[in-house]
Amino acid sequence: MPGTVLLWSLWSAVLLVTSAVEDDSVRAGCSTAQNDLVYIVDGSWSVGPEDFEIAKRWLINITSNFDISPLYTQVGVVQYSDTPRLEISLGRHQGAAELIQALGSIDYMGGNTQTGRAIKFAVEHLFGSSQRGSQVKNRIAVVVTDGKSQDDVVDGSEAARAQGITLFAVGVGSEITTSELITIANKPSTAYVLYAQDYTNIDRIREDMQQRLCEESVCPTRIPVPSRDEKGFELLLGMNIPAKAKSIPGSLSTESAYALSAGVDITEPTRDIFPEGLPPSYVFVATVRLKSGSKLTFDLWRVLSKTKEVQAAVTLSSQDKAVTFTTTSVAEQEQRVSFPTGFQALFDGKWHQLKIVVRPLRVSAFLDDHLIEEHQLQPVEPIYINGYTQIGKKSRGNATVAAHFTIFNH
Ligand SMILES: *[C@@H]1O[C@H](CO)[C@@H](O)[C@H](O)[C@H]1NC(C)=O
Ligand SMILES: *[C@@H]1O[C@H](CO)[C@@H](O)[C@H](O)[C@H]1NC(C)=O
Repeated sequence: MPGTVLLWSLWSAVLLVTSAVEDDSVRAGCSTAQNDLVYIVDGSWSVGPEDFEIAKRWLINITSNFDISPLYTQVGVVQYSDTPRLEISLGRHQGAAELIQALGSIDYMGGNTQTGRAIKFAVEHLFGSSQRGSQVKNRIAVVVTDGKSQDDVVDGSEAARAQGITLFAVGVGSEITTSELITIANKPSTAYVLYAQDYTNIDRIREDMQQRLCEESVCPTRIPVPSRDEKGFELLLGMNIPAKAKSIPGSLSTESAYALSAGVDITEPTRDIFPEGLPPSYVFVATVRLKSGSKLTFDLWRVLSKTKEVQAAVTLSSQDKAVTFTTTSVAEQEQRVSFPTGFQALFDGKWHQLKIVVRPLRVSAFLDDHLIEEHQLQPVEPIYINGYTQIGKKSRGNATVAAHFTIFNH
């Protein structure tokens, strides 16, 4: 059908032209999160100079997702043994290169381990003297230790939390005390405590730490999921679906479900739903019952920029019985990944769970908890948050399609 192709290329041309108008300051993601981030790093004798070097590298590595600038993330560092030492104050270095240089040239102290004192010090002297004060969006501290503290960690950790500072605890090696790390860290400890076997293996928890720091920076709420407790976006509520759509019995009696019909418009400003953009990894989950026999192609969920470029979308094609995931790309306008096979059942008119698991360089699609396919992704760009987030819309249109579903994404 040459007509269709022509239409498509015209549409692309329009996108290319209009996209030049978009202002890059409205892209949002982990890199543009506004964080005061403090590393509290163990420099006691048990660490040793070589492992201390590795710890510094690791800290540099886990900082790499953030834009280091007075507008976005500022990093401070405290090294501690018997006493804490201010190595880098918050906001002292206003660019990544300078910060990396400063982090790399911190000298190892040696001494005993007084972790509680170091946390108190960070609260008072680093967070306490940040130019941005408590106005900054996120105040996060990461405590890296390889042993048991010789002082009490309760007071310092509580003082930090009382000021809205989130604490991560990273335990390295076999000398650490799990209960102490749990006391230091925020709850749930499954999300805020990390372990590495030793410093040589600390690189193994780098991606995990990066991801958790990102989530902490960009996910506004923690949604309760049975057996899990993760940061996430509650799309069903965030998109005001209960107020707009008709409530119907769900796939399970414990779930609330809603029916979408043509008269219902589920559209919200992206800024209200994903104010800090999307994290580098997230899971989109929707339980849907689609009208069987339909030939429609529609976006179950999509994020459009002001000029209607797709920033993220999960598209269902009833005609092809296929699922397509769209995201951004550093190389092109849009990056579309199709899952052309394995999704026939999704269109059979019964309840099914569709799950899209997005990781920094790959995406996997699941139907009813069975992996259908995994694909590679090119590096993505932060999304534009100046447009709208929508549910159940005809592709390239504004009409709502009919579907029954429950949905959330985290
Ligand atoms: C830091 O990252 C590089 C790759 O970018 C890796 O080779 C190195 O092992 C990492 N170091 C640590 C300590 O995580
Ligand atoms: C989309 O449709 C809804 C009604 O279904 C309408 O209120 C809204 O203004 C439309 N938006 C656009 C961008 O056309």
